[in-house]
Amino acid sequence: MRTVLVSPVLAMPLFWLCLCHNLFPVSGLCSDDQRSLLLQLKNNLTFTFQRSTKLKSWDPSNDCCRWIGVSCDKKGHVTALDLSGESITGGIDDSSSLFSLQYLQKLNLAENDFYSVIPSAFNRLENLTYLNLSYAGFVGQIPIEISQMTRLVTLDLSCFPNFRLKLENPDLRKLVQNISSIRQLYLDGVNISVAGHEWSSVLMSMHDLQEVRMAHCILSGPLDPFLSRHESLSVIVLDENNLSSAVPETFANFKFLTILSLSECKLTGTFPQKIFNIGTLLVVDVSWNDHLQGFFPDFPLGSLHTLIVSGTNFSGAFPRSIGNMRNLSHLDFSYCQFNGTIPNSLSNLTELTFLVLSYNNFTGQIPSFNMANKLTVLDLSYNGLSGSIPSSYFEGLNNLVSIDLLFNSISGSIPSSLFTLPHLQTIVLSYNRFGQLDEFTSVSSSKLTTLDLSSNNLSGPFPTSIYQLSGLSVLELSSNKLNGTMQLNKLAKFRNLTTLDLSYNNLSVEANFTNADASYFPSITELRLVSCNLKSFPGFLRNHSEMVFLDLSDNHIQGIVPNWIWKLNLAELYISHNLLTHSEGPLRNFSTYLGILDLHDNELHGQISYIPTYAEYLDFSRNTFRGSIPDSLCNALFLSLIDLSDNNISGTIPSCLFETGGSLEVLNLRKNSLMGPAVPGKISGDCSLRTLDLHQNKFDGKIPKSLSNCTSLRVLDLGQNKITDVFPCLLKNISTLQVLVLRENNLYGHIGCPNTNATWPVLQILDLAINNFSGKLPQSFFTRWQATMSHENQSAYMCGTGTDFWPWNDFWSTLVLEAMEDLVLATY
Ligand SMILES: *[C@@H]1O[C@H](CO)[C@@H](O)[C@H](O)[C@H]1NC(C)=O
Ligand SMILES: *[C@@H]1O[C@H](CO)[C@@H](O)[C@H](O)[C@H]1NC(C)=O
Ligand SMILES: *[C@@H]1O[C@H](CO)[C@@H](O)[C@H](O)[C@H]1NC(C)=O
Ligand SMILES: *[C@@H]1O[C@H](CO)[C@@H](O)[C@H](O)[C@H]1NC(C)=O
Ligand SMILES: *[C@@H]1O[C@H](CO)[C@@H](O)[C@H](O)[C@H]1NC(C)=O
Ligand SMILES: *[C@@H]1O[C@H](CO)[C@@H](O)[C@H](O)[C@H]1NC(C)=O
Ligand SMILES: *[C@@H]1O[C@H](CO)[C@@H](O)[C@H](O)[C@H]1NC(C)=O
Ligand SMILES: *[C@@H]1O[C@H](CO)[C@@H](O)[C@H](O)[C@H]1NC(C)=O
Ligand SMILES: *[C@@H]1O[C@H](CO)[C@@H](O)[C@H](O)[C@H]1NC(C)=O
Ligand SMILES: *[C@@H]1O[C@H](CO)[C@@H](O)[C@H](O)[C@H]1NC(C)=O
Ligand SMILES: *[C@@H]1O[C@H](CO)[C@@H](O)[C@H](O)[C@H]1NC(C)=O
Ligand SMILES: *[C@@H]1O[C@H](CO)[C@@H](O)[C@H](O)[C@H]1NC(C)=O
Repeated sequence: MRTVLVSPVLAMPLFWLCLCHNLFPVSGLCSDDQRSLLLQLKNNLTFTFQRSTKLKSWDPSNDCCRWIGVSCDKKGHVTALDLSGESITGGIDDSSSLFSLQYLQKLNLAENDFYSVIPSAFNRLENLTYLNLSYAGFVGQIPIEISQMTRLVTLDLSCFPNFRLKLENPDLRKLVQNISSIRQLYLDGVNISVAGHEWSSVLMSMHDLQEVRMAHCILSGPLDPFLSRHESLSVIVLDENNLSSAVPETFANFKFLTILSLSECKLTGTFPQKIFNIGTLLVVDVSWNDHLQGFFPDFPLGSLHTLIVSGTNFSGAFPRSIGNMRNLSHLDFSYCQFNGTIPNSLSNLTELTFLVLSYNNFTGQIPSFNMANKLTVLDLSYNGLSGSIPSSYFEGLNNLVSIDLLFNSISGSIPSSLFTLPHLQTIVLSYNRFGQLDEFTSVSSSKLTTLDLSSNNLSGPFPTSIYQLSGLSVLELSSNKLNGTMQLNKLAKFRNLTTLDLSYNNLSVEANFTNADASYFPSITELRLVSCNLKSFPGFLRNHSEMVFLDLSDNHIQGIVPNWIWKLNLAELYISHNLLTHSEGPLRNFSTYLGILDLHDNELHGQISYIPTYAEYLDFSRNTFRGSIPDSLCNALFLSLIDLSDNNISGTIPSCLFETGGSLEVLNLRKNSLMGPAVPGKISGDCSLRTLDLHQNKFDGKIPKSLSNCTSLRVLDLGQNKITDVFPCLLKNISTLQVLVLRENNLYGHIGCPNTNATWPVLQILDLAINNFSGKLPQSFFTRWQATMSHENQSAYMCGTGTDFWPWNDFWSTLVLEAMEDLVLATY
């Protein structure tokens, strides 16, 4: 039976089609010519079949009026075509069959990747009322033919500014001159670059215009006060243009305005309050106009749902009448100058979903939000809010996803009701004065991923309720007053925990569990356990090669730095202030990515045999390292600080160090046994040294001339060496110098530089003691010093000892010229 049916179908496709139609009657059957035009169009388009959703459905055996993206009229004529977001990369030029679809009224090619100019044949689509070519990758001049599409009601040519379309010829005026029916004109990102009154006057000539979007169009100002005579305008979006003008008072005369968006327009003046009286207003966004002033009026009852004034100079009190804006959903006042309290009337805003008031000077208590049960984001960070938060304040906020109260002065308990909110993912309460975390019980549905309670006054034992928050990815409790013993293994099964910081409490963290296996802390990448009374390295990290950041400073870890620690692919390792004596393997097996290594204040000995190649910051100070500085120091091209002070390092500074120039800002070799020239070789022109401290070594030779290339030098300490030279006039043009210590060398000759009145305008410490300087002390050389001298006893320039700090005035903190018996004060 089956074969009998199938064979005639295969043999007679036409018959099959007819049969099919009879079986599935449809309206608007595609006419043959329309189908073949569409198929031709499809065949000529370049697109990725798998990534297309619409074109994929264009199956020749189905009625083309049912293909996705195709709409027909009753006669089977294609009247609307939507090929937006199909990843089309080409295949439409002036000869394309697209332009033969003569019944088309609506065409959407948005969000594709054409990377070509707009074909000029669009004007063949005579009856097109809707043309959407936005973000389709078209570039270059917009063709004049678009201006001949006189029936257009909607024209959307928005583009990404990096693939700019431009309107030069035709310009904006010519483009729209003959399209009198246009209501929606979207030109975001198009290079229009005409002066203020020109684009405004073009808009005013478009009598039916209702919506204009011209964000990022290189428009210039000023905003034309007469624009408001265009009464039908309801959407005005001009973000990211350099308008450099005030918002005209007349804008309050718009009768139907719904959206006014003027973000990043360099607006000035005061935003006209009366604009808020426009009853139709839904959205106002004037964010990121630093010079725009503004105050809030008494809000009338209004329909406003979005109000964004972040990054402006809006100031004053938060209007209590905000409670009148019953539809308000999105409110962003961040980075403004508001002060006073946050009114309780906010709690009447039952539609509120997004409330951001960060970076203002709000004071007083946090109001209750429990009517705003649609709230998803609450950000009150960086204000002066104080008082405590009653637990009930967050009850019922069943949609809250994120709460951020960072940097306020809120005290009392952290309300446990927060931990029962079913959608809450982020809690950031750090830098406040919370005194305790109330233990909580039921968190079974908790989606919490970030809990940051650091820098508060939390006291008492580690809150064991936290052990229930097993979905956490970030847990920060540092800088509190938690005490007692904390067993780290209670967090070991938190599958998603990436960041854990328990530093700076009074906790004794037990991290030495022996039964640890690979399943402990499976996702951890950042662990900070500073001052946690650790006695040994947390061995469970042994195989965690994805660790990036480890800080175990200021503990009581004794003995050996285990070899496994270098194999963790760490970018930053801090193990300073412990009782470490040596490294299990040679100090050369560093992880490739190591950028910061801080070993200071231990009892480490042995040689520093290798400098990690990508190191930026190396602190080996206050240990007992010996041997010489490895030449590999010169390969560390990103090094900005190296501190080897207070060790037993000998030998010379590798001569390559300064020749490469570049990134090194701090070199501290104080208190070692280094010798040879202080700067071997020459310092190159791009020296960025800010601190060079070679105090108490055995350097000899002269003060290196090429130091004059280090024009950002602030601290130069060559004290207690064997340098034989004259006063370093070669440094006189380094105007940043704050500390110059040359004591206890073999310097001789005059202090000061010939023909120079003043140098080192910000110098604070000058120590020239115990050298062989002689002659007159040129008072005028040290300009500020002269001012001081007039108030002091003239012999006061002799300080007692090198360690005395003598506050001469705000400026000088120390001047040490002891044991300079030959010197005479010169007065000019
Ligand atoms: C379609 O592409 C073919 C070959 O790529 C070309 O010959 C033909 O002219 C194109 N047709 C249309 C209508 O663009
Ligand atoms: C275009 O629209 C006009 C007026 O509505 C109509 O008379 C004409 O037939 C349409 N042309 C096409 C090709 O649909
Ligand atoms: C143009 O099409 C895109 C993608 O479909 C859409 O997001 C946008 O709103 C459309 N523009 C207009 C004016 O309808
Ligand atoms: C607008 O129409 C007028 C009259 O038909 C014509 O002279 C002019 O060239 C047209 N402008 C553009 C830009 O097409
Ligand atoms: C807000 O507070 C900061 C710091 O307390 C202060 O510098 C600033 O002047 C204050 N601004 C206003 C508008 O009160
Ligand atoms: C808010 O700031 C203004 C201007 O800086 C000041 O005059 C006013 O006293 C402040 N109000 C409060 C409540 O701090
Ligand atoms: C909330 O609105 C009600 C009625 O509209 C009003 O009586 C009440 O005072 C408002 N609450 C606040 C805190 O403004
Ligand atoms: C960890 O994260 C994954 C992916 O985000 C999520 O599916 C899973 O539920 C999380 N695990 C826990 C214990 O929350
Ligand atoms: C923890 O600190 C509290 C005071 O905040 C103190 O009463 C208690 O004895 C301390 N506990 C431990 C174990 O040190
Ligand atoms: C961990 O260290 C503590 C304190 O030093 C010690 O009492 C305990 O026995 C150690 N636990 C293990 C498993 O090594
Ligand atoms: C400063 O650096 C330049 C370029 O590296 C070099 O030619 C010059 O000699 C240096 N200056 C001194 C005083 O050494
Ligand atoms: C030093 O200062 C005096 C008075 O200000 C001025 O006349 C003289 O030219 C200055 N000398 C130099 C070398 O700058």
